[in-house]
Amino acid sequence: MKNIDSYTHLRGESLFVDDIITRKDTLYGLVFDSPKAHGKIISVNYSKAEAVEGVIKIFNYKDIKGQNQIGGIIPDEPLWAEHEVHFQGMPIAFIVAESEAIAKQARALIEIDIKELPVITTAKEAKEKGSFINEPRSFSLGNTDNAFEDCKYIFSGNSFSNGQEHLYLETQGAYAIPMENGNIKVTSSTQGPTSVQKMVAQVLGVAMHKIEVDVIRLGGGFGGKEDQATPWAVMAAVAVQHLKKPVKFILNRHDDLRMTGKRHPYDSTFKIGLDEDLNILAYDVEFLQNSGAAADLSPAIAERTLFHATNSYYIPNVSSIVHSCKTNLPPNTAFRGFGGPQGMFVIESAIAEAANNLGIDKRIIQERNLISENDEFPYGQIATKVEMENTWNTAIEKFDLEKTEEEIEQFNKDNKRFKKGVSLMPITFGISFTNTPMNHARALIHIYQDGSVGVSTGAVEMGQSVNTKMLQVAHQTLGISPDKVKLETTNTTRVANTSPTAASATADLNGKAVQKACKSLRKRLLGVASNILMINADDLKFANDCIYQKGKKTDLTWEKVIQKAMLNRVALTENAHYATPEIHFDKTKEKGHPFAYHVYGTAITQVTVDCMRGTYEIDSVKIVHDFGKSMNLGIDIGQVEGALAQGIGWMTMEEIAYDKNGRLLSNTLSSYKVPDVFSAAKKVEVIPLETKGNKMAIKKSKAVGEPPLMYGIGAYFAIQQAVKAFNPKHKIKFHSPFTPEKVLMSLYEE
Ligand code: MTE
Ligand code: HPA
Ligand code: MOS
Repeated sequence: MKNIDSYTHLRGESLFVDDIITRKDTLYGLVFDSPKAHGKIISVNYSKAEAVEGVIKIFNYKDIKGQNQIGGIIPDEPLWAEHEVHFQGMPIAFIVAESEAIAKQARALIEIDIKELPVITTAKEAKEKGSFINEPRSFSLGNTDNAFEDCKYIFSGNSFSNGQEHLYLETQGAYAIPMENGNIKVTSSTQGPTSVQKMVAQVLGVAMHKIEVDVIRLGGGFGGKEDQATPWAVMAAVAVQHLKKPVKFILNRHDDLRMTGKRHPYDSTFKIGLDEDLNILAYDVEFLQNSGAAADLSPAIAERTLFHATNSYYIPNVSSIVHSCKTNLPPNTAFRGFGGPQGMFVIESAIAEAANNLGIDKRIIQERNLISENDEFPYGQIATKVEMENTWNTAIEKFDLEKTEEEIEQFNKDNKRFKKGVSLMPITFGISFTNTPMNHARALIHIYQDGSVGVSTGAVEMGQSVNTKMLQVAHQTLGISPDKVKLETTNTTRVANTSPTAASATADLNGKAVQKACKSLRKRLLGVASNILMINADDLKFANDCIYQKGKKTDLTWEKVIQKAMLNRVALTENAHYATPEIHFDKTKEKGHPFAYHVYGTAITQVTVDCMRGTYEIDSVKIVHDFGKSMNLGIDIGQVEGALAQGIGWMTMEEIAYDKNGRLLSNTLSSYKVPDVFSAAKKVEVIPLETKGNKMAIKKSKAVGEPPLMYGIGAYFAIQQAVKAFNPKHKIKFHSPFTPEKVLMSLYEE
């Protein structure tokens, strides 16, 4: 089944926040943000801005009736700065005017005097100065001190991975309208409707039931709208509370780039120890996360870095620690992989460092240490139904790696200017929110009297096609055709207290709730059918919009059953709640069983470097991926391809740059390059690994949203191989992205 949105997407008919037909009295918002990264606000003069014709009101923290606080995990983030600013782009005031153009004109007239304070932009500097978000976290397994003594080889080094801009096509935004009795309806482009509802209520000082949040769909989120869609919706709502008029606020791209956080840069140090047979005996790693000026989701992201610090390898002695370092950058936030990719890049760096020093292929160490059945992860979970070696071996075999390696060797002998490199990248990614209490969802299903069905869940559609999957679950469970089912918008009045659409777990959590609700409806309706046909319900089944008796079609249609149910006053609505069973985690011990299951896979990446120019092409990425039993292979392969491109972009060309004053230099799309059709991999092949699937996954179809991003890490090491082939003297470094500039420097380094 195709993505149910593909038709309207293609025709440009899909609705986003900015497409809603506005009420005629709608006003427009714009943020006035800090021009300095750190300082004390001495004065702000709004008088000239207020005098501009068409400016209705300029709001600041003094206008807040509830709390000036939007921090989710730690209350350390004001909606609008009070007396201090902590990053360039920090919201200070909110201009509401008759048009966005007027608001912009007014913004330029606001005068601000800031007494500047020292600025920290890097995690290292923050650590030196003792500037942290919270206490560090650490996971450990075995005893690294003892284990290093038994190691034949020990290597250490540094690894840095930079941030990444989400670049969702649809920028952040919300539209808030006043309803009766002080109630407000907010249409928001958010992954977390409940977070928006909660924070609007908190800042306005009203009860949550006064706030309705509706989400139509997002033009991409990628984690950037898990927490950071909230402030804009709250600002619009504050203005509505005062003005009693609708307020729309859509960030322009430039403001969005400047004011929002990105993927966290990580500065890490590692020490890896191996025995004679290349078994990794010990791994010691320290992660410095550049969290930005407020916590946002940083603590949860730091946690996931620890969960994935050993990627797909079993290492018996591990000691890992992560510091969330407070800097004067916009608070960094969730981004596909949620800290996992950053952790995985470091272990891959450590293995590459070891291999390089030992003069062997990285692949030999990787292969020797792949995780297998009943191995223990550093967080205590025992690996079961492991498909790691299966994907690895299948990839090597199906894509004939040996032949590729021979061809590359020959190519590199024959060519001076161009060199090729290849690398293998295994992934193991845990599915579930690492914070156990978040793993729940609900669905509300209405069957209308004509037999058509409306499905509401807490899932937000953001291009990952979760609505299509929900529709599949509903129509298959009810035994009716897909066109009888409609996915409703995500709305807090229909499905409340939702977890954000995140952690790749949305289809599992909401899908299981849909399935449960549909099963209840089915059971009830089979009772109705049983009464009509005077046949035992156990012998009846819904399929193809009809009732079947022991596999034989009867005359009784779905519609007739529904009509009868109406007459008999049988409930045609069902609500169900699903909470992932079995998972638990004890933060005091840092041990438990946090994940419902793991997703596995292996990518083989081949690149060609132009050794005169330092440019490169990704020739091919060949992937064997564990989808379980994919319920929609077209969609799932699309997720693999999209995530891969994003991962390659992060590792190779997307370069976030701030100057030492905390000003974003890569603040336009001409200075920040994302992969386009020319620079993405020239060829991507995905082979689904046929496995039994996992009952914890919806219809045994494993979560797919984030894991394949980490295949992109393979590109870094493939380029490194090619550079090495040209310049064997070059000292390998782990400093992503591996931009053409850095490649060129490495090629000619003495
Ligand atoms: N795919 C598209 N097209 N757009 C997105 O914004 N977000 C990714 C991934 N795939 C995203 C996407 C992220 S960060 C996550 S966590 C998952 O989708 C969330 O959706 P799921 O839980 O339904 O997989
Ligand atoms: N993944 C993604 N988003 C989250 C998580 C997680 O584990 N926890 C809280 N938000
Ligand atoms: Mo995805 S980073 O969990 O929104």
